Amino acid sequence: MVSDTIRWSRDIYIEHITGHRQYQEKKSWHTIKTMVNLPVISPFKKRYSWVQLAGHTGSFKAADSGTILKRFSDNEKECFELLMKDPLRSCVPAFHGVVERDGEKYIQLDDLLTDFEGPCVMDCKMGIRTYLEEELTKAREKPKLRKDMYKKMIEVDPLAPTAEENTQHAVTKPRYMQWRETISSSANLGFRIEGIKRVDGTCNTNFKTTKTREQVFQVFMEFIEGNTTILKKYLRRLHDIHLILESSDFFKRHEVIGSSLLFVHDDSGHANVWLIDFGKTTLLPDGQTLDHRIPWQEGNREDGYLLGLDNLISILDSITER
Ligand SMILES: Nc1ncnc2c1ncn2[C@@H]1O[C@H](COP(=O)(O)OP(=O)(O)O)[C@@H](O)[C@H]1O
Ligand SMILES: [Mg+2]
Repeated sequence: MVSDTIRWSRDIYIEHITGHRQYQEKKSWHTIKTMVNLPVISPFKKRYSWVQLAGHTGSFKAADSGTILKRFSDNEKECFELLMKDPLRSCVPAFHGVVERDGEKYIQLDDLLTDFEGPCVMDCKMGIRTYLEEELTKAREKPKLRKDMYKKMIEVDPLAPTAEENTQHAVTKPRYMQWRETISSSANLGFRIEGIKRVDGTCNTNFKTTKTREQVFQVFMEFIEGNTTILKKYLRRLHDIHLILESSDFFKRHEVIGSSLLFVHDDSGHANVWLIDFGKTTLLPDGQTLDHRIPWQEGNREDGYLLGLDNLISILDSITER
């Protein structure tokens, strides 16, 4: 289970958090908090508090002086090269080129957690759509049946598969991704929470069914522990990111799929947000641009990124108003 894997302390401790996918967001945070794994205590924990909240297992490696290595993809490398020349440069981890380790290629990025003392981290996957149009076309032409995804589906909702899927004991990837969008807040709010690491070191990646504004509000409140100084810093940064996105040529000319906003704060009141993960961010054909707000229809490649950001900002704003 990829997104349930938490990596502690760079490459020193790898802790797999499994076996608690079954509990739902309906339960209170306190219940969840008592159930999540506690991290292995590491003598390096304080110095190396890096954590992988989501994404593919084994795709990160420790690197020198405040940087991390992410498994190479041509697409992501090209995005980072463009991003380093775009106004969005200030909103993403700095890119330090491509390196090779043990025969494998990696991109080297700034570790966004280095300036924090015991960081709390939240990964929010942006957009109304989490798969590429291309993946949909491929799945239609040559459906690849995924038994693993069927299994994950029935773990959350035994009634979700169709009769045909039940016979096959399998679903296609886009079908699974679309279903994930509708059970979470992706489809209705244009973003979803993928994972949180709290100050006590506990991680929670069980937000698959966190769907409504109120549920997101509650999770966020718990994340910041009601700290309005941190909340205001997050809001200010989100407004800045919003402005920069609107001035960015990179953003206009890319379909941004599966990218996240990484929220990081610590006890000292230090708080920041960055855009990460451009593995599925795709350059549009020459002359084509996206609005990032209008609804997706197959063929228009819209991703709903700004819709998600608007909703995220408005939910955080409503905390300041309560
Ligand atoms: N530059 C970074 N600094 C600190 N943490 C990061 C950084 N990039 C990624 N992470 C952590 O790793 C997780 C997965 O990263 P991501 O780039 O989304 O990988 P994937 O492409 O496998 O989804 C994030 O949720 C975050 O916790
Ligand atoms: Mg990711």
